[in-house]
Amino acid sequence: MSTIPVIVDCDPGHDDVVALWLALGNPTIDVRGVTTVGGNVPLPLTTMNARVALTVAGVNDVPIAAGASGPLERELETAEWIHGENGLGGPELPTPTMTLDERSAQQLMVDVIEASTEPIAIVATGPITNVAILLRDRPDLMSRIREVVWMGGSTERGNATPYAEFNALVDPEALALVLESGVKFTMVGLNVTHQALLTAEVRERIIAIGNNTSRFSDDLMRFFCDTNETVYGMPDGPLHDPVAVAVLAAPETVEVVHVRLDVETKGTHTAGATSVDLHGLLDREPNAYVAVGLDVDGFWNAVVDAIKTLD
Ligand code: BDR
Ligand code: CA
Repeated sequence: MSTIPVIVDCDPGHDDVVALWLALGNPTIDVRGVTTVGGNVPLPLTTMNARVALTVAGVNDVPIAAGASGPLERELETAEWIHGENGLGGPELPTPTMTLDERSAQQLMVDVIEASTEPIAIVATGPITNVAILLRDRPDLMSRIREVVWMGGSTERGNATPYAEFNALVDPEALALVLESGVKFTMVGLNVTHQALLTAEVRERIIAIGNNTSRFSDDLMRFFCDTNETVYGMPDGPLHDPVAVAVLAAPETVEVVHVRLDVETKGTHTAGATSVDLHGLLDREPNAYVAVGLDVDGFWNAVVDAIKTLD
């Protein structure tokens, strides 16, 4: 089977961890590197949590490198109110066996891209700062980047402010830069990730796998569902980030449309809001793919199948 070489750029975060597991366990995806960004919690914690995610899964051969500690132009906003003080509230965290690569995230991305004979896909599941820096500083690598798939934004309203989704809110200037770059870009927003709900049935399926990863996920999911219930009244927490991985791992499960996508960087009350021209009202050339539908069962099948392959 042909595989897609991928870099996962993330800010773990509960759902980032499952995104990593889906990428690592899916046979279509060949994870060549993991890079971290300050987002849900500050960079040292997201980096530690990425190492934990791979350690739990028994993966020791994928380099992890730390990237931007904060957005291009703004102060970092974090989301302890969903993910807890350490970013992975719930389970007891093992000491990671996975060491941190000495290179910066930027250097790791460059090295992975340059070493590959095929174009590399980047799946970003946090503020898109690292990808923006890469495209800004190394536009010569554009033709060697297959595409960027990002969890963030929405065709509807937000979850961090009334109009902005968290990853978009944290670094809208980075998102604007990526959109201007011309790279093939897919946005997977709340309008679909709110269908990826951790229902009791889904949680039972994951726990029933019975391996180390599945056992770790029990307390992880419980905590995430509890905070989502407290903050949003959503007891079946929406597991956003793996849906972005599914665009590559199980493309038949995510329906996308090609449209004009912009992000608000100036609004007094709307910074980070994504403007998705679903009806062509702006009469502008499409510049992005935007997810509009999810085969929920197919998505969870891919997640469960991936976790089965891990420790
Ligand atoms: C996004 O924000 C973070 O809290 C999650 O990890 C996800 O990437 C959802 O808005
Ligand atoms: Ca995330």
